[in-house]
Amino acid sequence: MATTQSEDFEPVLPGPGASDYERYLRTDELLALQPDPARAAHRDELLFTTVHQSSELWLKLAWNEVDEAARLLEGGDSGGALRLLRRASLCLQYVTGQLDMLEQMSPWEYQAIRAQLGHGSGFDSPGFREIRRVSPPLGQAFHALRRERDLSLVDVYVHGREHEELYQLAELLTEWDERVNVWRFRHYKVVARIIGEEVVGTQGTPVELLGGLIKNKLYPELWQVRNELTELAKLED
Ligand code: HEM
Repeated sequence: MATTQSEDFEPVLPGPGASDYERYLRTDELLALQPDPARAAHRDELLFTTVHQSSELWLKLAWNEVDEAARLLEGGDSGGALRLLRRASLCLQYVTGQLDMLEQMSPWEYQAIRAQLGHGSGFDSPGFREIRRVSPPLGQAFHALRRERDLSLVDVYVHGREHEELYQLAELLTEWDERVNVWRFRHYKVVARIIGEEVVGTQGTPVELLGGLIKNKLYPELWQVRNELTELAKLED
């Protein structure tokens, strides 16, 4: 007997949800994770939670790609690492872009949301915690590869055309560092705009201290080498 088209496309995956789309993506669970605007202390809790939760998802993808990129580099697979590092930086760009949405909240009305956060603080963001964990081994794997070829960081740049993959890696590590830093700066401006620069955060940290973190670099040597290149070019003039 011929089946109708709708029977052909009955869900085949296990789990709750009316369709395989909902079952595979577990949309019931995912969409139950945000406060209902009608019952929340403020309806913008939906906006606030959406930005934070989606940031955590992109950060999770980002750190997984960085972690795997470090492993690939340790095995000498620079091409594979480059592919993943491009993705990781793009994740950070998205997370930075969505900070714009938070500035759609009224600073006064935000205080009603803030009152719901307990001691909740971005310092405890699982995504950023993992980024802090996986970034140093990536730097170590890159430098090990460079040393294996007996190249200084200056050599990687001056002879970049002869060591294309190492050059690309150095640039993607710099990009990763820059993206994390640009997020920090942008986040600081959001904080200043929503709660002010002269207050303390939900865990007692003065916001000014957050401003100080903007100077932090994941790979300071990759920034320092640019100074050296400029000096070197002057000497060769
Ligand atoms: C209205 C929006 C936001 C406000 C007012 C805010 C406020 C703050 C404050 C005051 C701190 C300092 C630590 C503390 O005392 O809590 C902080 C740190 C932090 N926040 Fe936010 N935040 C906002 C949005 C976000 C978003 C969307 C994320 C994304 C995951 C985030 C992640 C972080 C992280 C990772 C830190 C630690 C900073 C670092 O390591 O450089 N925050 N935030």
